[in-house]
Amino acid sequence: MSILVIGGTGTVGGRVTAQLRQAGHDVRVASRHTGPRFDWTDPGTWAAALNGVPTMFVLLPDQTEMPEAFLPEALRAGVRRVVLHSDRGLDVMGLGHLQKAEAQVRDSAPEWTIVRPDWFQQDFETFFRQPVIDGRLCVPVGDARQGFIDADDIAAVEVAALTGDGLLGRLVEVTGPRALSFGEVAAGIAAAIGRPVAFDGSPGAYRAAMRADGLPDGIVESLIEGYGRLRARGDTEPTGVVEEVLGRPGRDIAGYIADAAARGVWSPAG
Ligand SMILES: NC(=O)c1ccc[n+]([C@@H]2O[C@H](COP(=O)([O-])OP(=O)(O)OC[C@H]3O[C@@H](n4cnc5c(N)ncnc54)[C@H](OP(=O)(O)O)[C@@H]3O)[C@@H](O)[C@H]2O)c1
Repeated sequence: MSILVIGGTGTVGGRVTAQLRQAGHDVRVASRHTGPRFDWTDPGTWAAALNGVPTMFVLLPDQTEMPEAFLPEALRAGVRRVVLHSDRGLDVMGLGHLQKAEAQVRDSAPEWTIVRPDWFQQDFETFFRQPVIDGRLCVPVGDARQGFIDADDIAAVEVAALTGDGLLGRLVEVTGPRALSFGEVAAGIAAAIGRPVAFDGSPGAYRAAMRADGLPDGIVESLIEGYGRLRARGDTEPTGVVEEVLGRPGRDIAGYIADAAARGVWSPAG
């Protein structure tokens, strides 16, 4: 029996796919670039992905709703178990599309697990990569400490939920083993690459940086509002879920930084 991995080509989904295959499972990956193509915005593409799979992993791309008709179609096609990749910041950041998706899954899937990760350590090689290379990172969360988690550890918890019964009916918040501020992470990266990486956690610096990148004002202001609530919430507490589920500590961000620096992630030419 295949396990369907929707969003299985991205940062986390790619790791879920790889770990499942490594453990010997048959995996069907679904995205806009797989054959057959799966597109959230095109209901005609859903049936081929859903055909004959009892278990599915769902990762929604940023700001993408799970359409109302999707889960009923999946259940009619025979899906029983749904593992939803969500976001630990959904309530504080007001991520309505994920709040809705969580409710849909909890209310209708016979077997479900919801995984809410904290910030990914790998964000520093995706959307924070260029700011790090440029030596100036702006995120308007001030000094509040975040539970940066390794995407491999997120995927490992999600694979455990897909393949075992220990996480059925649970909503788990996953974090790294310790929380750090963005300023502390920037200092750690600077030490590893031997170049300065300044951090500015103020809304003004973020607004200027996002405007320079061409992001529309409305989106920038709503992001600043959400990040402001994250800042007001203060330091996050690691949850210990990775340790509980995997029986080992999650990777500390210091290990991630050393590895990413060795891979040349922040080399200007790379
Ligand atoms: N970054 C963080 O720190 C963080 C923390 C907690 C939670 N999250 C949550 O994690 C999610 C993002 O995870 P990620 O970074 O692993 O995602 P990602 O790397 O951006 O991958 C997105 C996946 O969705 C697919 N996709 C995009 N548009 C699609 C469409 N219209 N139809 C079907 N598939 C589509 C992509 O493949 P194709 O391009 O081939 O379609 C890809 O497989 C978000 O829900 C976010 O809220 C993020």
